[in-house]
Amino acid sequence: MVKRIGVLTGGGDCPGLNAVLRAVVKTAIGRYGLEVIGFRDGYRGLVVNDYLKLKRSNVSGILVRGGTILGSSNRDNPFNFKIEADGKVEYTDMSDQVVKNIEELGIDCMVIIGGDGTMASARDFAHKGLKVIGVPKTIDNDLSATDTTFGFMTAVNTATDALDKLHTTAESHHRIMILEVMGRYAGWIALESGIAGGADVILIPEIPYDIKKVAQKINDRKSRGKSFSIIVVAEGAKPLGGEMVVGKMVKDSPDPVRLGGIGNFVAQQLESLTCLETRVTVLGHVQRGGSPTTYDRILSTRYGVAAVELAQAERFGMMVSLQGDTITAVPIDDAVGKLKTVPPEGELVRVGKSIGVEFGD
Ligand code: F6P
Repeated sequence: MVKRIGVLTGGGDCPGLNAVLRAVVKTAIGRYGLEVIGFRDGYRGLVVNDYLKLKRSNVSGILVRGGTILGSSNRDNPFNFKIEADGKVEYTDMSDQVVKNIEELGIDCMVIIGGDGTMASARDFAHKGLKVIGVPKTIDNDLSATDTTFGFMTAVNTATDALDKLHTTAESHHRIMILEVMGRYAGWIALESGIAGGADVILIPEIPYDIKKVAQKINDRKSRGKSFSIIVVAEGAKPLGGEMVVGKMVKDSPDPVRLGGIGNFVAQQLESLTCLETRVTVLGHVQRGGSPTTYDRILSTRYGVAAVELAQAERFGMMVSLQGDTITAVPIDDAVGKLKTVPPEGELVRVGKSIGVEFGD
């Protein structure tokens, strides 16, 4: 019987984390009479035993708040944990310590909220015998085992809002406006915000672009009297035969690559190919912040409730998942390591092409 559950939020934060926590705590305490322990800063809290008992008062009023009241980290891997002592840095497998901490606290099941990296560790803990339930989170929407991760729609909304604003200033100044958005190796944010925001060009990692085709599109618009153009470029977009642009490498991070810079790269080339003034906006972490949209509040709440229901049903090793309109569960084993990227021949790309959006292919 599950009596006490633990919960943590791992990886890059996103809107809706607090809404999931609220649903977990309310369902666990209010519906099942369980206790809930929250660990701070993702897996770090589990390693160093940094936790608090979550009561209903802790989650009161947090539905609309971005971020996570528990804190998060996309650097701490419990299976290769960074320890600094006497000026020296060492990496140690702390997973046995985690299992011990959980046992000593009398936690029957861990609800782990995170993206691909966080779920990979959740899977490894499940293989060590821990009872875990996963909740899929990321603005990138790149987890293959669910139709939608919470946080994604809010990020798309933020990017669409930025495109709406860029439109007016682009038109006034007869410029090319480039918006660089996040998404890592998947182009979902760029594609969906580009369609919603009426972009003329959408560049995504899944469709390597030919800059001459992009310039041609802009020059065609110019000859039709449209002296401005809007481009949304995913941070992972790359030219035909070329590579993604790496912004920086983050040592200690399980995935050290941080993409960034493609917007400026494209801008320089387009300015000379079109003779139009070009400006770049890098939207960055704005996409990860703010209040979740209505859609994400509902999805996060559904995920949080479903996670506690799975714990009660003792269906451990599963991750909650949205399939069509239904919340279901899939084995965490099947949910990690396979990125969900944009199908280049898929319906959304076809929709874009039908209305004249240039993808550069
Ligand atoms: O995975 C979420 C995400 O925001 C990506 O879209 C982006 O590439 C990355 O995280 C940024 O990571 P950091 O917060 O470490 O800069």
